[in-house]
Amino acid sequence: MTEIKKLIADSLTKLRSVNNKEMLESLRIEISGKKGYITQAFSKLAQVGANEKKEIGAELHALKREFESLFYAKKEEIELKDLESKLKQEKIDTSLFYTTNFVSNGHPVYQMRDMIIDYFVGLNFALQDGPFIEDDFHNFEALNIPKYHPARDMQDTFYFKDSFLLRTHTSPIQIRTMENTKPPIRMICTGATFRRDYDLTHSPMFHQCEGLVVEQGDHIGFAHLKFILEQFVKYIFGDGVRVRFRSSFFPFTEPSAEVDVSCMFCNGSGCRVCSYTGFLEILGCGIVDSSVFKAVGYKDVSGYAFGMGIERLTMLKWGINDLRSFYETDLRILEQF
Ligand code: PHE
Repeated sequence: MTEIKKLIADSLTKLRSVNNKEMLESLRIEISGKKGYITQAFSKLAQVGANEKKEIGAELHALKREFESLFYAKKEEIELKDLESKLKQEKIDTSLFYTTNFVSNGHPVYQMRDMIIDYFVGLNFALQDGPFIEDDFHNFEALNIPKYHPARDMQDTFYFKDSFLLRTHTSPIQIRTMENTKPPIRMICTGATFRRDYDLTHSPMFHQCEGLVVEQGDHIGFAHLKFILEQFVKYIFGDGVRVRFRSSFFPFTEPSAEVDVSCMFCNGSGCRVCSYTGFLEILGCGIVDSSVFKAVGYKDVSGYAFGMGIERLTMLKWGINDLRSFYETDLRILEQF
């Protein structure tokens, strides 16, 4: 017994300085395992006399309790230490460079729209909005496109009943703005427009941006329009491009022009994209026709208007050759923007 008590006491001393799980477990087995010192001691109790049994039994129980309280305290201490070192190892280093980019920057068409808005709002143009479903008056009549006029063929229209339709351009927003405000007007609008068309360069839904400036008197002229648009084209495509105004026709402007930019794919020397002309058409513009002012009840005013397809500008700016890729939600394309 004396010997066993000494062995137990030695083990308890070792237990006090233990600092890892494995050593703790082997000491537990040594002291209170199936063949441990305490277990052995208890089984030897049967061999001693009744008086001694009581005394030694009490001593063994005290040793057992001492072992247990020491063991659980150590166990907790070691587990806490292990947890701390584990947390230290798994700590996330937030200063590390992050390589996977799944944060969206917005659809390229909307990025272009925002660029356009930034430019014109910076020049004090107000941003206006209007409905997708329009009536015949705002989409056609007021813009000098009467019923049965061949100019309606320029725009393949989706019709509803009762002469309602999906707007074929954003120009009706100009009419609504003039109906609701007195000159001076300095506005742009952007939004979805709809035509019955579907191929490499046409989609049934696309986006336009239009602008309108109207002032009392006859002083607004082509020079103002030309300056604003030349600066605009250089803002979008860079100072290096050349801009050309080519006379054209729109029912709502007179005189009218289309604006071309030197082809950014061949730098103006002629290639397949620009059909070997060196130029690409990007917008329409002109001096507002007097019949438009008449339709909204304006008198003694002058003004200019311009309109452009946002998809087209986006394709030219970033070299996208199929319009349809804008609407196919293919992340491999969208992620490049
Ligand atoms: N609304 C015209 C279109 O869709 C564009 C335009 C607007 C042209 C204003 C001239 C002036 O074709």
